[in-house]
This record gives sequence, C-alpha cells and structure tokens, in this order.
Amino acid sequence: MDRKADTPKPVTVYLKDYQPPAWHIEAVELDFDLDPDATRVRSRLHFRRAQETAPGTPLHLDGEALELLGISLDGEPLAADRYRLDEAGLEVRDLPETGLLEIETRIQPAANTELSGLYTSSGNFCTQCEAEGFRRITFYPDRPDVMACFTTTLRADKSACPVLLSNGNPVASGELEDGRHYVTWQDPFPKPCYLFALVAGDLGWIEDRFVTRSGREVDLYIYVQKHNLDKCDHAMASLKRAMKWDEAVYGREYDLDRYMIVAVDDFNMGAMENKGLNIFNSRYVLARPDTATDSDYQNIEGVIGHEYFHNWSGNRVTCRDWFQLSLKEGFTVFRDQEFSADMNSRGVQRITDVNILRTHQFREDAGPMAHPVKPDHYVAIDNFYTVTVYNKGAEVVRMLHTLLGPEAFRRGCDRYFERHDGQAVTTDDFVNALEAANGVSLRQFRCWYDQAGTPELTVERHYDPQACTFALTLRQQCPATPGQSAKQPFHIPVAMGLRDGEGRALPLRLYGEAQAVGESRVLELCQEEETFVFQDIAAEPVPVLLRGFSAPVKLNLDYRDAELALLSAHEDDPFCRWEAGQTLARRLLLTHPPEALTGELIQPLVEACRHTLDDAALDPALRALALTLPGEGYLAEFVDTIEPQQLHGAREALRRALAQALRPEWEACYQALTETGPYSPDAAAAGRRRLRNLCLNYLIACEDEAAYELALGQYRSATNMTDSLAALQALVNSDCPQREAVLEDFYSRWQADTLVVDKWLSLQATAARPDTLDRVQALTGHPAFSLANPNKVYSLLRAFAQGNPVGFHNESGAGYRFIGEQIRTLDARNPQVAARLAAAFTDWRRYNPARQAGMREQLQTMRDAPGVSRDLYEIAERSLG
Ligand code: PHE
Ligand code: ZN
Repeated sequence: MDRKADTPKPVTVYLKDYQPPAWHIEAVELDFDLDPDATRVRSRLHFRRAQETAPGTPLHLDGEALELLGISLDGEPLAADRYRLDEAGLEVRDLPETGLLEIETRIQPAANTELSGLYTSSGNFCTQCEAEGFRRITFYPDRPDVMACFTTTLRADKSACPVLLSNGNPVASGELEDGRHYVTWQDPFPKPCYLFALVAGDLGWIEDRFVTRSGREVDLYIYVQKHNLDKCDHAMASLKRAMKWDEAVYGREYDLDRYMIVAVDDFNMGAMENKGLNIFNSRYVLARPDTATDSDYQNIEGVIGHEYFHNWSGNRVTCRDWFQLSLKEGFTVFRDQEFSADMNSRGVQRITDVNILRTHQFREDAGPMAHPVKPDHYVAIDNFYTVTVYNKGAEVVRMLHTLLGPEAFRRGCDRYFERHDGQAVTTDDFVNALEAANGVSLRQFRCWYDQAGTPELTVERHYDPQACTFALTLRQQCPATPGQSAKQPFHIPVAMGLRDGEGRALPLRLYGEAQAVGESRVLELCQEEETFVFQDIAAEPVPVLLRGFSAPVKLNLDYRDAELALLSAHEDDPFCRWEAGQTLARRLLLTHPPEALTGELIQPLVEACRHTLDDAALDPALRALALTLPGEGYLAEFVDTIEPQQLHGAREALRRALAQALRPEWEACYQALTETGPYSPDAAAAGRRRLRNLCLNYLIACEDEAAYELALGQYRSATNMTDSLAALQALVNSDCPQREAVLEDFYSRWQADTLVVDKWLSLQATAARPDTLDRVQALTGHPAFSLANPNKVYSLLRAFAQGNPVGFHNESGAGYRFIGEQIRTLDARNPQVAARLAAAFTDWRRYNPARQAGMREQLQTMRDAPGVSRDLYEIAERSLG
C-alpha cells in the first residue's frame, strides 16, 4: 500500500485496552481572545494524580493543530525537558500530586474547514467538540471519563460579537480596550470536554420561560442569524414540550437557570447537546410554513427533544469511553422516538422508525462495516456515529422496555440516574441498574450489545384440529459478520397474537396455563429454537408476529397471500397491519418482471389499495403509509445481486399500474382532502397533506395533461412548503414540459434561503431521469453549491450517491468516478463529511461484477490517496477488507 511518508499510519483503538485516567482535572479555566485568524486560548488546568497512579507517571494532554505559545507549572515557566510535544499532543513529566498547569495556544478558527474544534460559520464563532474536537482548541485529556468544572471567559470585538456564550451561567462581564468586551461563564456541573461549547457573534434571539415541576424558573433562548428570527417559534414550542415530557415520563427536571440553543448553517451533524448550550445545524431549528415541510417540522421536534433529553442521558450521566457511545445515543434515540410518538401518531412514528432501521441499519449490519451496538475497536471514532449505534441501540433499549414493562423499566432508569449521576459509565452499568431495580437477570440479553448482525427469526406453524392446539416453532439464526463467525442465541421478545378467519383476535392460552392471558402477549425466545403451543384454538388461526416490531430481526413466515390481505384489513397493531400490505407488494415486485405487473396479477393489491383509500376511519397518514410501495433500498435487502434499474423499473411499473387502475379514486381522495385554512404542522393536518400528496404522486404517474395541470396548479397555489415541494417533486420526476421552468421559478424565488436551496438541490439529485448525473455535475459549479458547507454536500452529492440508485450505479461507472473524485477533494478539507459520503461504496459486493470493479476501484483510490485522512482510510479499508 502506498502511503506518503508524512501520513501517520492509522492506529486502531481497542475496547480491551481501556485504562482509567491516570490524572484528574478538577477544574479548568479557559480564556479566549477571539479573532477569526488568530485566537489565543489560555487554559488553567487544576490537576490531581489519580490514587492508583504511580508517582512519576507523565500526564498526557491531547492536542491537534495547535500552536503552543507557553506552558507553566504553579506560576513558573516549565523547563523544556519537563514536556514533550508531538503530533498527538503534549506529555508533561515529573508533576507533583496536585498543581496548576497554565498553557497558552494559538488557533485559526476561520481556517478550520473540518468544522471540528473552534470554527467560524457565517462570520460567527462556534465550536464542535464531540467526539475529539476539544483537542483542536487546547491541550487537554480529551476523553469522556475526565470530568471537570469549567469557567470560560470570552473576549471579542463588541461590534462583531455582541453575543458571547458558553456553558452554564454568566457570572461576570464588562468592557475592554479597543472596542472589545468580555463575558465569563461558569458551569457548575462537572463535565467531559466533549460537552464544552462557546458561541460568539452578531446573533438575534428569542426568549421564553419554563417553570419546572418543582417550581424552578428556566430562561430559554434560541439564537440565530437575525434574518432567521421569524423561524424559531416551532423549535421553542418543541423545547417546552420536551421539557414537560421528560418530567412526566422519566421524572427528570432541567438543572440550570438557562437553556440555550444556537443555530448555525455550517455543521457536520444534526445537533450537539453541549451542556446548557446546544448547537444545532440550522435545518433542525428553522421553520416557517412557507419554507419548511411537515417532515422538517417533525424532525425539528424530534431533534430538539433528542438534544434536550441528553441533559440526563448523556450529560449528567455520560460515557466512560467512546465504545459506550450507544449508552447515551441508543437510549436518547429511544427517548426521542417515544416523545415524538406521544406528541403525534404512535403508529406512524413506529412505522417511520422501523423503515429507517430496516432500510439503513439492516444494510449496514449485512455489509463490511457491520459492528455491534457496542463496537470493540475503531480507527476514527467519528465513523461510529452510525445507524447501528443510534437506531439499533434504540431498539435494544426498546426491547428492554418491552421485556420489563413500562413500570419496571422506569424503576430501572430511576436507579440508573440515581446511581450514576455525575459519572462516566458503561452500557453494562445501564443494564445492571435495570436488573438491580427489578431483581431480574438480563445476562443473555447483553448479547445485543456485543454481537453484530441481524438475526433471522424463522417461524413454523402447526395446527392440530383434533387437539385444537396451534404450535409456533420459533428458530433464530444470526449470520456471520466481520470478526464474529459464530453467535450466541439472542434473548428476543416476540410480541404476538392470533386471529381467526374473520380477523378477530383470539384469547391466548399457552400449554400448561389454566386460562387465557389476553389477546396479545410477548413470547421470549432465548434458545436457538423453541415451540409455543396455544390451546382452545377451534380453527386454524392467522398468527401475527412482532407487533410494534418488538425486535430488530428479519421474520421468515410463509404467509399465504389471503392471510396477508386479512391482516392488512383487520390487524389492529399499526405496524403489523402496514407490514402485511408491504409484504404483499414486495412479493409482487420481487417475483415478476415489470411488464407482468398488470391485470389479474395485481388485482388483489388493487382491491386492498381501494379498501385502504376508502377507509375513512383510518388515519390519513396511516393510509398514506399503507399506499406507499416498499422503497428500492428496502427491496434491495431481499435480492442477492442488486440490479438498481430492475428494482426501480418494477416499482415504477407497479406505481403506474395502481395509478391507472384507481385513477378516479386517487382523484376523489385528492379533491376531498383539499384544505383552505391556515397551515398547522399538527399530526392530523400533516397526515391529510401526506395522503393528498401521495394521490398526486400516483396521478402524475398517468403522465397526461390533466395530471400535469393538477400538479402545476398545486405548485402555483400552494401556501406551504409541503404542498409546494410535493408538486415540484412530482413535476420534476415526470415528463411534464414545464418542469424546467418550474424548477427555475423555485430557485429564483428561494435562492436567498439556504435551507430551501438544499431541497432544490436534493430534488434534482434524486430525480429518476437519464440526465441526472450531468445535472448533478453541473450543479457542483452552481453558485448555490459549496463543498465547504456539509448541508450542500449532503443535499447534492449524498442525495445522488445514496438516494438515487439508478443514477449512481449507472452501468458506465461515471457516477462512481464522479462521486469518488468529489470525496477525495472533500477529504482534504473535511474528512468526517468525506467519510460519510464514502459509505455509498461500502456495499460494493452486492452488485454485478462490472459494478463491483467500478466501486472497488474508487475505494482503492481513496484508500491509497496520498495524505488520506484516518476517517476516509478506515471506511475504504474496511469496505475492501
Ligand atoms: N451527539 C450528537 C447527538 O446525537 C451528535 C453529534 C456527534 C454531533 C458528533 C456532532 C458531532 O445528539
Ligand atoms: Zn444524540
């Protein structure tokens, strides 16, 4: 392998090598002299040797891209032979048991293109420290198990930076010479440095207040660039709902006098839970009916909730090391999913979350990047903010909730927060607390944290008409994943029920039980294979398994089509009902060529759709979900070799066939859902818009004048972004002659609004048209695009590479070459974002030989590029591995 001499060889970090910190930092005082080109950082570290540490052990301080200006110990400059500087940081020798180290460094925020550490966004200063960004601000033990009290003073030019923010409470402020001023902030809670934040700039804000359950008054602030001040109300309302929800459901109150949220346009991720000072990607804060869609409103509520919930699950109790990332992320995603379910529609929320899991996480679990919820090694921790750690991690916590029941789960969480408040702990500590609070053993359950891969649950059924018994045999099997060939059986909660031939729920009496115990129950599969026998079953029933998707597994059950139709009409668990319909559609899509998807063959599906469309009693959002065909990404999980064009062709053919077969019904439903009142993002209204826009999506598949007119009419008259964008999307994916004109109109109307421009880019990048690659290439030169802004990269390049399989996987290989080149260019400026984009190549083995060769070539070129980042190297190397 070619590596440039100056590229350090990537080092692998192992969980098994964990050592507790040798030195503690009890308090730290930071002093920033802010300047975009040269910021001076003075840090005062009050250190103490850990009890277990032998005297003479050096203190290691991480540091990266720092210019060291001075270092002193207890007021005296430190002699040069007492410390050593290398590219990983600073090693200080012969320290006393306790003392004060003062270190002065210089950094260049405006030149920080990685957006990790201190950087500027739209001329304002902000920070991002998780996971290892603090070491790019000053020398420090940059690991989450070192917790200290922070006092931070910010100095800056008063006209450029009237607002100066950091964690905790402001304790002093005043004027300085040369038009500068300062503010000092104190955070009373000890925290790891990844939760440090500062913000400085010319920002506007809105304020509100929340009174906690115990009567404490909390001031709430949202800071944004001034032109966005009219887009903050939904975020603020969401924050107050989240605060109330955490009190009601988990008994958790907020603990500081103020809670601040800042929105910035340049941010690698979604948002960050810095103590008392969350920093958000502006896309998860800003919303106005004419600029944000219903799903933007939903996502904002969810992410605001997520970051707020971290105050307990992440900040008050944090992670011992980064292998424990899911301790905070899995738990917090579970909490935000439940919050959203309570605020909106539980069924819709669950189906949405399962869709994300099965489309993205199952795929990750089946490929070369597969890793356990608790990984055991990494090269770049930034690569492990994955759907496995987040979303599968949330499923693991959800299973604990299911197995224990809500009261016992709450008792366990109370115990966890009580035991570990102020500590940095492990996923094991979490499970231990649940066990201890309830006197149960979750020994086998822990496999879910350590074993990668998606278990397959195969179900065999046997009905005995003489004995009136129904036996379900459940068998589990988990495929091998990198580094894990054999797996222990998992502890799998299988929520289930039985229905009779009319769809009625049957009482469930297991063999040996005196009487039936309800109509829905949770079977616990712990062995590789177990049989459960139900009694008093008068006729062969239809089993319903994994209600609420009670475990992140793949289910194999040989349902007859008629049984699926029955469940899709009668099952009352929203997930299983939806799943039955999806399975019917999936079978059609995967077993017949596109041209066969007409007439008799699709008649049962047409009738099921007609029934759903007409079912006025069913929530419109659930109807919309049921009427949406399985996505290409999900379908790909069921084939050996992915042929993107074939999957797309089949799905399109079926969509067209359903469009034509039910044309009057789509039209009637569309018209019936026309609304005139003011916009509200509530679940009911959003559900109606969703169904109406789905009708439009089917109608446009008819590709005729009337359908185009309908979409054009909706585009022109829309009063909210949901309807406007849905119409635009329908047109862009059609052959409507006006589509270019409408795209242009949209851009000229919204070019000043960067988040709306992102939508415009994505829409073009995901269009299923033969010229999409050319267009995406051209758009990289458009003034609306910039490689410096992660949102732009995600909206255009990632949308194309991961949201447009037909375009990206074009037989010519041009899509691969284009994206590969973009990744290599980006890697020099922002490795985290480059590595995320490279995920598009990870699954190369799933394609035909020609595509494999094209994708592999790009991965090799990335891996072997001179000066490749650790982040990109790890993704490429593992993918090839
Ligand atoms: N901890 C953040 C969250 O999930 C995500 C994040 C990770 C943000 C790393 C920035 C950097 O809420
Ligand atoms: Zn999080």
